[in-house]
Amino acid sequence: MVANSKDLMTDNGNPRHIAIIMDGNGRWAVKKKMPRIMGHRAGVKTVRNVVEFCVKEKIEVLSLFAFSSENWRRPKKEVNMLMELFMGTLQSQVNKLDKNNIKLKIIGDKSAFSEKLQNKISQAEQQTENNMGLTLVIAANYGGHWDITQAFQKITAKIAAGELETQDVSEALISQHISTAGLPEPDLFIRSGGEQRISNFLLWQLAYTEFYFTDSLWPDFDRALLTKAINSFKSRQRRFGHTGEQIINSSN
Ligand code: IPE
Ligand code: IPE
Ligand code: MG
Repeated sequence: MVANSKDLMTDNGNPRHIAIIMDGNGRWAVKKKMPRIMGHRAGVKTVRNVVEFCVKEKIEVLSLFAFSSENWRRPKKEVNMLMELFMGTLQSQVNKLDKNNIKLKIIGDKSAFSEKLQNKISQAEQQTENNMGLTLVIAANYGGHWDITQAFQKITAKIAAGELETQDVSEALISQHISTAGLPEPDLFIRSGGEQRISNFLLWQLAYTEFYFTDSLWPDFDRALLTKAINSFKSRQRRFGHTGEQIINSSN
């Protein structure tokens, strides 16, 4: 069962968990007659600003889609540059994240990454694992289908080993095996870049998330736009299947 509306809000009405598809880097660069990688570099700057904002606003979890399981289909040169940018950003930012009490978590099929990158990821996660501030989730080589599949694999392995019975499989059990286990589900989903689709992001987790789309390209996304998205979220009535009247009565 999805959570109750009361569990999902902070005191100031902010979402607890914001999930973002950071789209439009390539088009931003092309518009400026620059190579696409320049758009990705500019996008990293936006990430830094958004992370700072979420720390300031005491958002609990920020999930960012950095590289999808389908993005390997891009030209090899762009894929390589994205990997380098990911590695370089991890290297240069992890101490700063740590100092700001941010806990870093990378979700996705990490086995496809170079050993060097996999090691860097584990090291960054370990360095920040005891931090109690913002949890920053980076989805890299991530796909919602992959996530559900890997949860199935873990659960069926436990059944085969006799640790679980088939009847034990429940929504809660699946949630415990999905890559964001232990984190609240996203309250607000934002996609920049004008497309209105999920592109295989957090399929299981987005069941009752509020969606917000903006035409702004990711490098142009700023605090004002994020505030606008959060204000839109705050203005909505989340019903989770109830009637509007039920929600009003329960909040009185
Ligand atoms: C999103 O920007 C970043 C990644 C997918 C890595 P895009 O690179 O998809 O930008 P557009 O959609 O081509 O403008
Ligand atoms: C989704 O963006 C993935 C990331 C932002 C990392 P894409 O630009 O790859 O999505 P599609 O292919 O246009 O749906
Ligand atoms: Mg795109």
